[in-house]
Amino acid sequence: MKKNYLTATLLTLMFLLIPLSLSAMDYKHTLEAKDMQFSWTIEGDQIHVKLSAKTTGWVAIGFDPENAMEGANIIIGAVKDGKVKIEDHYGDRKRGHTSDEELGGKNNVLNPSGSEEDGVTTISFTFPLDTGDKYDKPIHPEGTSRVMMAYGAGKDSFKTRHPYRTNYEINYSTGENKKIK
Ligand code: HEM
Repeated sequence: MKKNYLTATLLTLMFLLIPLSLSAMDYKHTLEAKDMQFSWTIEGDQIHVKLSAKTTGWVAIGFDPENAMEGANIIIGAVKDGKVKIEDHYGDRKRGHTSDEELGGKNNVLNPSGSEEDGVTTISFTFPLDTGDKYDKPIHPEGTSRVMMAYGAGKDSFKTRHPYRTNYEINYSTGENKKIK
């Protein structure tokens, strides 16, 4: 009898604590750009990302751009009618991007989630540091990398342009970052 009571108490505690620990996921580093926030944690061979901006349109991050948007591994997401859509894209030209799936690669985004509240869109997802997909780029936790961020204006379509975009140099391990454009 005593044992049953103990098991029931433990199970209740577990059900109460598990959602709490997931919703309160703490990110190790945060980059505060003028109009956007990028938080991340490197864990093993993955990066956990949270991205938010004051927009009801899309928010996006581009890892390792080479020439304007070209060469970047872009993750873009939006929330429409409470539903989140996050896609894995590639900067296949200087002024645009196409989904990896359309290019013949894969959408490697894991655990997509998001919300839109008071005009602020937030997405979160996990991404492997090295997918092996030719339309992604390995993310190197050590050293300096380039990262770009942008958000769209109002519409959720991924084809609309950005009223805001920015470029940073970043060290994913230490969190050090510097605006470069
Ligand atoms: C279909 C959607 C998009 C269109 C049509 C578009 C178009 C353009 C154009 C015309 C420029 C050059 C003019 C300017 O500097 O504003 C540009 C620059 C830029 N875009 Fe996009 N863009 C799109 C999506 C994105 C996304 C998803 C990101 C980020 C994740 C992004 C990041 C940037 C950045 C950082 C620059 C400045 C590049 C530099 O000067 O080095 N863009 N884009």
